[in-house]
Amino acid sequence: MYKKISLMVLVFLVYSVSVPAQTDKASGANHPMMMNHKAIDKRISLNLSPNMKVHQLENMRSHVEAIQAIIGLIAEKKFTKAAELSHVKLGLTEEMKKMCSMFQNEKFRTLGFQFHKSADKLAEVLTSKDTEKSLHALHNTMGYCVQCHATFRQ
Ligand code: HEC
Repeated sequence: MYKKISLMVLVFLVYSVSVPAQTDKASGANHPMMMNHKAIDKRISLNLSPNMKVHQLENMRSHVEAIQAIIGLIAEKKFTKAAELSHVKLGLTEEMKKMCSMFQNEKFRTLGFQFHKSADKLAEVLTSKDTEKSLHALHNTMGYCVQCHATFRQ
């Protein structure tokens, strides 16, 4: 009986000591996510105008939509349609060339062009109707999404 009570007292003590500590953590005062965003975001800024920002994000959302569609089409073995999407939505079309050329940052432009070229390569691989090869090519193309996002911000 005494053992039980002393255990309960102990549990209460531990609880009352640890709870304030946890609330401190929860307030996030020292958490990176709660700090000034710009202070910790070391990526290179493209210094885009408000218009360009909206335009770029629209374009990006269309990229992620295309990737989702392509993955679905590969799963359904609809390779011809997937290849078409890859070229039209992600490839180095005249429209994409124009868009990429509008950016001042040379490294960004180069990365953009490499990305679009890789999507044309993906389109080519997709026409082989080989799932494994297609996924490898898609993985390669998405490597540019990852690389660019890690390097640049608006
Ligand atoms: C050459 C550079 C580059 C490439 C390649 C690139 N992006 Fe982006 N993307 C950006 C930048 C810059 C932003 C803005 C990020 C910021 O300011 O935090 C962005 C933002 C986004 C966003 C956020 C959209 C929104 O409305 O908030 C999505 C989604 C996105 N990209 C998807 C993709 C996908 C998917 C790919 C590849 C298929 C891709 N991007 C390739 C540069 C790139």
